[in-house]
Amino acid sequence: MLIGVGLGPGDPQLLTLKAVETLKNSDMVYVPGRLAADLVEPYTDCKILDFPMTKDNDVLNAVWKNNADIVVEQARNGTVAFGLIGDPNFFSTFSHLSRVIHEHHPDINITTIPGISSITSFASKADVAIDTSFEVSDGTDIRSKIVLKARRPLEIVDSLTRDGFDNFIFAERLFSDEERIIKTREDIPAKGNYFSIIYAKKSTAESAEE
Ligand SMILES: C[S@@+](CC[C@H](N)C(=O)[O-])C[C@H]1O[C@@H](n2cnc3c(N)ncnc32)[C@H](O)[C@@H]1O
Repeated sequence: MLIGVGLGPGDPQLLTLKAVETLKNSDMVYVPGRLAADLVEPYTDCKILDFPMTKDNDVLNAVWKNNADIVVEQARNGTVAFGLIGDPNFFSTFSHLSRVIHEHHPDINITTIPGISSITSFASKADVAIDTSFEVSDGTDIRSKIVLKARRPLEIVDSLTRDGFDNFIFAERLFSDEERIIKTREDIPAKGNYFSIIYAKKSTAESAEE
């Protein structure tokens, strides 16, 4: 099993209890660099895997595949944690690693533990309150959207479909006993509540430009 562990923005006090517990209990811990290694080292030994910053796709693919093979070898026989700065599902090395492992080793079970991301870290440090809709971009096309307070999920899905979105996830009361996560559009309920979220994605770049 492989667990992507969010280590937060760099402050050693901003790891979650669950992150610390997972680091301590894993058979092997990998990180992508020195900053992450420094956050992990109070709890366990770790190995740094090299992820060079290049735009050369051939080099990148070879590195992803090589690192995926290293991690998978351990993950087949025990619990492997991969610790990284911020959150593992948010513009993260881990998402790429996870995608390559899914492609080449679909039998490996992969989960993630959220970490405090640069977005909420920024809001805190800069004393900025974000309380209206906003955009996060890395310069690529906008292809996904998160709607909070999704009290009428189906209406939201219908409206986003008209805007070209074609993939939807409904999530409610996450990390509680009443958690619900629905990934098939047909099963998304008409009614949500205050603790409901809709995630929408445009599956192709073409539809993103329509
Ligand atoms: C590849 S993304 C990683 C995001 C990370 N997974 C997260 O959850 O925040 C890297 C970008 O996040 C932003 N970032 C991450 N950590 C930051 C920090 N401590 N201070 C300011 N920006 C940060 C910077 O814009 C940086 O270029």
